[in-house]
Amino acid sequence: MSLTSPWRADFPGILALAGEGQTYLDSAATAQKPQAVLDALLGYLAGGAANVHRAQHLPGERATRAFEATRDKAAAWLNAASRDEILFTRGSTEALNLLAYGLEHLLQPGDEIVISALEHHANLLPWQQLAQRRGLQLVVLPLEASGNIDLSQAAQLIGPRTRLLAVSQLSNVLGRWLPLAELLALARAQGAISVVDGAQGAVHGRHDMQALGCDFYVCSAHKLYGPDGVGLLYGRGAALAQLRHWQFGGEMVLDADYQSARFRPAPLGFEAGTPPVSAVIALGAALDWLNGLDQAAVARHEAALHAELLAGLTARDGVRLLGAPQLALASFCVDGVHNADLAHLLSEQGIAVRAGHHCAMPLMKGLGLSGAIRVSLGLYNDGDDLQRFFAALDKALELLQ
Ligand SMILES: Cc1ncc(COP(=O)(O)O)c(C=O)c1O
Repeated sequence: MSLTSPWRADFPGILALAGEGQTYLDSAATAQKPQAVLDALLGYLAGGAANVHRAQHLPGERATRAFEATRDKAAAWLNAASRDEILFTRGSTEALNLLAYGLEHLLQPGDEIVISALEHHANLLPWQQLAQRRGLQLVVLPLEASGNIDLSQAAQLIGPRTRLLAVSQLSNVLGRWLPLAELLALARAQGAISVVDGAQGAVHGRHDMQALGCDFYVCSAHKLYGPDGVGLLYGRGAALAQLRHWQFGGEMVLDADYQSARFRPAPLGFEAGTPPVSAVIALGAALDWLNGLDQAAVARHEAALHAELLAGLTARDGVRLLGAPQLALASFCVDGVHNADLAHLLSEQGIAVRAGHHCAMPLMKGLGLSGAIRVSLGLYNDGDDLQRFFAALDKALELLQ
């Protein structure tokens, strides 16, 4: 019997796409949204929109309460020590750029920033540009053939000159968890600042910031079954206090004169201007939805679907998996076939997968590839989705090989 998803009916977007003959297997790029998120979005917009933190009228107070409730939910979801450790940003990319700017004054020429070889451009380019601006060294942790970080090399490379470590939690290409506990311990031993890019990892399981012990953690709501345009930046209180203010404008000042101003601390000091109120409120609904799930059932479904994906891919001649994915996704290439041609033929058959370099060009170059196909799974996907994908893949390969 084909694997079913108990959550599929919650997602109007998946049902609409299915109605069009589309099989959506690109949730690592963005996830579909459950009805509860759509209701929260429309509820705020249709129920009387108002700006937050400014107005003393009823709609303004109502909007501010709903907006700030998401901060409480996010703080609880990440087990932050305080709600003030949760900042709203536009997403992971903006949060990482904020950090690369906001921490710049703490770094001196010759200091080292350590990243890994598999980083998404969002967690590479802000640090690369910072390194260029400040005369810093960007040190790259190499991978073993399996796609794991080589920890013995990491222990050599994270040293007394390391001032900052910035690594992913879960690779968007290889589908493997990074050894965060070990890497963060190495960074801590050197007194380095640590940044974790949770864009892919956040949605899988629960992540306890106090237990993890990183200084900063970022994620994007649109990959958490929430709206686009908003993300979370967690910062440990003492680490946040070191951050330089970066965007200036309404609601982030304590006091302003023509020639000088004093700024608020986090979180509001880092949320200048009107925030994405509707998206933040809808993110609260996404967190409620995630919290309401039976975590054991989620883990079982994710594991079963992923096992079926891997079994189907490895059974096919010429299909080469990138590394050994652990969950959520699998990237592959096919000997003698260009990934763009394959993606095109899959798309013609209504299969939505991602093709290309997956915003990790240095990793792809290191693997000697110009690109790969990535299939990524959401909680709404089921065995029928995979069967449709494999039927389309076989047909495409028959034409191309
Ligand atoms: C590992 C990783 N980091 C960062 C990002 C950037 O996220 P966003 O585009 O939501 O800012 C992504 C997006 O795919 C990602 O996979």
